[in-house]
Amino acid sequence: MLQIVYIALLAGTVAGAFSTNQSVTEVRKVGHGPTGYEVTFRYYSETANQPKSVLLGGFPLYANALTASRSKTEQIAPWDWQADDFSLFLSPLRPAYGNTTYLGFNMTFEESSGGWVTTLPFPSGTFGYAFYLDCKEGWSSPHCNPVIDPGNPPIQSPAGDQNHSIIQVPFDAKHQVQNYDYALPLDDKTRRGSIAFYNYSSPGSTAPTKDIHSVGIYLPVGYGEISGKKYPVLYLSHGGGGNDADWFNQGRAHNIVDQLIDAQVLEPTIVVTPNFYDLGFSMEDFATNITGENGSDTYGLNGFFEAVRKNYLKHLIPWVESNFHTISEPTGRAWGGLSLGGGLSITMLLNATNIFSHVCIMSNTPSPLPNDPQWNNTGINSVDIFLGAGFYDKAFDNSRSMQDRLSAAGVLNYRSRYFPGGGHDWHTWQDILYTWLRNELVKSKWG
Ligand SMILES: *[C@@H]1O[C@H](CO)[C@@H](O)[C@H](O)[C@H]1NC(C)=O
Ligand SMILES: *[C@@H]1O[C@H](CO)[C@@H](O)[C@H](O)[C@H]1NC(C)=O
Ligand SMILES: *[C@@H]1O[C@H](CO)[C@@H](O)[C@H](O)[C@H]1NC(C)=O
Ligand SMILES: *[C@@H]1O[C@H](CO)[C@@H](O)[C@H](O)[C@H]1NC(C)=O
Ligand SMILES: *[C@@H]1O[C@H](CO)[C@@H](O)[C@H](O)[C@H]1NC(C)=O
Ligand SMILES: *[C@@H]1O[C@H](CO)[C@@H](O)[C@H](O)[C@H]1NC(C)=O
Ligand SMILES: *[C@@H]1O[C@H](CO)[C@@H](O)[C@H](O)[C@H]1NC(C)=O
Ligand SMILES: *[C@@H]1O[C@H](CO)[C@@H](O)[C@H](O)[C@H]1NC(C)=O
Ligand SMILES: *[C@@H]1O[C@H](CO)[C@@H](O)[C@H](O)[C@H]1NC(C)=O
Repeated sequence: MLQIVYIALLAGTVAGAFSTNQSVTEVRKVGHGPTGYEVTFRYYSETANQPKSVLLGGFPLYANALTASRSKTEQIAPWDWQADDFSLFLSPLRPAYGNTTYLGFNMTFEESSGGWVTTLPFPSGTFGYAFYLDCKEGWSSPHCNPVIDPGNPPIQSPAGDQNHSIIQVPFDAKHQVQNYDYALPLDDKTRRGSIAFYNYSSPGSTAPTKDIHSVGIYLPVGYGEISGKKYPVLYLSHGGGGNDADWFNQGRAHNIVDQLIDAQVLEPTIVVTPNFYDLGFSMEDFATNITGENGSDTYGLNGFFEAVRKNYLKHLIPWVESNFHTISEPTGRAWGGLSLGGGLSITMLLNATNIFSHVCIMSNTPSPLPNDPQWNNTGINSVDIFLGAGFYDKAFDNSRSMQDRLSAAGVLNYRSRYFPGGGHDWHTWQDILYTWLRNELVKSKWG
């Protein structure tokens, strides 16, 4: 039985439609530098007590190719942004480099509206943000709690799953170089697909309740209207600490897929975003201390990934295929995942070659060592493999060594995307997803 939890509102470039005082966080084309666009953020206290201060935070400052590294970013402020600069999300967000201590942006109390307001230039892209009330230590401090924008709520299931509201800023060719317009929502709302979250039966699951698990589903526009039509299914996994809403809220995967379908580049495709937490087991259960060479699999990750694979193949995929109009064979199944979900994708590649025809591995954890007999699995040759990471991504080496191991094993049917301005962050994963879907899922048999 299908249970719809929440139908998401697909926000446009103007972030929301709610405000007590008819004012919302707003993305505006201004036609002047530094970026050609500005965003005005507004926060209205929901209680009678006004905070003493409100910080805007949640997004990183900018870096440039001359000074950035995996552990260092100059933290270039929005008004100093230049055309080649990129948004680089490093952890920790306040590294001991550069001369700016980035705490967030102070918002100003506006007597006329009773709201807190600030305006900043933004380049093209997808940015998470939140309000931090009476936060002295800076927004990335564990002592400061994010308050989402009530006028622009995140896509989430259930409420509280996502800590950041999202803005999407269009590209302005006069001022910018890096164009993320491929992730914007389609202007015509009637041509967009829909997102909902569902509960499905997953014995052993501990959340949202016993033996029930949550999953996000995107259905393409027109789904179900043509009798007998079956759709291919793209599974997209979150990473460490994430959940089934991440690819929609932070990754805007539905917009990317909407645009490619609308342009008739991609076959209308169902997108499924599972959640690998609370399935009834955890990573700790598999901590084996197998210290492979150079510490690979120190945490027994593959044991965990194997358990997730078995669980999804037994419970999730059969549920999807019996409740939606799917092409229930490998040519109609693709799998992608990021970070820890990228490690899970390696398991889906090596141990599910008869299930998926396409696998995309993003910013992965270490792959099996070169001498592992798993590389001799001839089934790998039947899978269309895509992999990648950002240049400033902590997983860059894992991704490149995976390529070396595939090559050494004689597996040459892989392609990749290494994103020049990318960290271990959503701009990187959006870029890999878009490149994969646009170039690979159309060329080969899909759907
Ligand atoms: C999914 O399960 C949770 C936990 O029982 C519940 O709160 C939620 O309402 C369920 N969703 C639906 C649509 O039944
Ligand atoms: C940053 O601070 C260091 C040491 O105070 C100084 O030498 C350097 O010039 C400063 N860099 C910039 C970009 O201001
Ligand atoms: C914000 O404003 C307060 C009050 O004026 C000030 O104490 C604080 O240092 C400012 N914080 C930032 C990050 O600018
Ligand atoms: C709008 O702002 C005014 C001025 O601060 C305030 O008195 C009023 O309560 C606000 N309206 C709503 C609906 O919150
Ligand atoms: C959201 O914020 C809360 C409170 O700061 C924190 O405990 C939680 O880990 C955060 N969740 C995510 C997904 O970042
Ligand atoms: C793994 O090794 C660490 C450090 O030696 C130790 O603390 C931990 O208990 C070990 N875990 C297991 C499952 O053996
Ligand atoms: C382990 O690290 C050493 C030294 O960096 C390197 O030479 C070797 O190739 C690495 N081994 C693997 C399997 O990555
Ligand atoms: C594939 O399955 C085998 C057997 O269950 C397991 O030992 C191996 O770790 C799995 N491979 C990966 C990459 O998870
Ligand atoms: C793969 O098979 C070949 C031929 O049987 C063998 O020489 C090689 O050692 C195997 N490689 C691995 C990683 O097991």
